[in-house]
Amino acid sequence: MKVAVLQGGVGHEREVSLQSGRCVAEALRQGGMEVVESDITPDDMAVLDRSDIDVFFVALHGEFGEDGRLQQVLEDRGLIYTGCGPEASRLAFDKIASKNRFAEAGVAVAPTVEVAGRTPRAEIEAQLKDLGERFVVKPVRQGSSVGVYIVDGPAKAAACAVDVCAQFGDGMVEPFVRGREITVGVVGRKTLPIIEIRSRTGFYDYQAKYIDERTEYLFDTIADAELTERIGRDAMACFDALGCRDFARVDFILADDGVPYALEINTIPGFTTHSLLPKAAAKTGVSMSRLCVGIVEASFY
Ligand code: DAL
Ligand code: MG
Repeated sequence: MKVAVLQGGVGHEREVSLQSGRCVAEALRQGGMEVVESDITPDDMAVLDRSDIDVFFVALHGEFGEDGRLQQVLEDRGLIYTGCGPEASRLAFDKIASKNRFAEAGVAVAPTVEVAGRTPRAEIEAQLKDLGERFVVKPVRQGSSVGVYIVDGPAKAAACAVDVCAQFGDGMVEPFVRGREITVGVVGRKTLPIIEIRSRTGFYDYQAKYIDERTEYLFDTIADAELTERIGRDAMACFDALGCRDFARVDFILADDGVPYALEINTIPGFTTHSLLPKAAAKTGVSMSRLCVGIVEASFY
């Protein structure tokens, strides 16, 4: 079987994607597959014309690769590829659309104030007035915490939201939820063990994700069996609410009041050997190689 690992792409998560692609390729080779590594962009998709490739493993993060556009091209050409289809990818990459679906599925989400490019600052500030004192401002469509800020006070948050919109298009503001950062991988119809992330600054940003080696990733930190079960159920409900398939990773804040608030779902989560989904799979005894080979095999069904 010959697999092309599609990696790189465009945008802010390009570097991370190159790392994911390299690790996936290595894992597939270890699993006995023939692998071609291909840096792909909207302007150069020549690899998709190759008739010797059986499966395309999409290891792109962010715009173009994770937002459904590449999946639509693959779909239109009738090619076999890994992971979610175009519609689930598009919904998942839109943090507002996905939160709306999660809420409809009965999963707790924090309130959201949507900010379009033209929303006046005063209007945003007025909407934030009753939502608390600390806010998280983020682009609606980005990954790896690119463009995410924690800001005190409605006035500053509104100003920050205007900046985020100017840089990234649409933005959103949520009240800051005090709690613990947790993530749940889904593979097939199974949820993987919960990982709690403890970053040195308390903010799991790009630095804490990819650079700071002091970020801790912990298993078995939730003693309450009922809560653990609820989080797994919620993760699966989020996965199903968007029509995801094969694998994804759902991020939550487990608030100090005990409620797990779903933040987002990543349809192409990090795939380096030290990324969260591979770590969680390893915890259940599934090696990176088996994980990646399993994902390739699942793409045929
Ligand atoms: N967006 C990054 C790659 C992640 O979800 O892990
Ligand atoms: Mg993400």
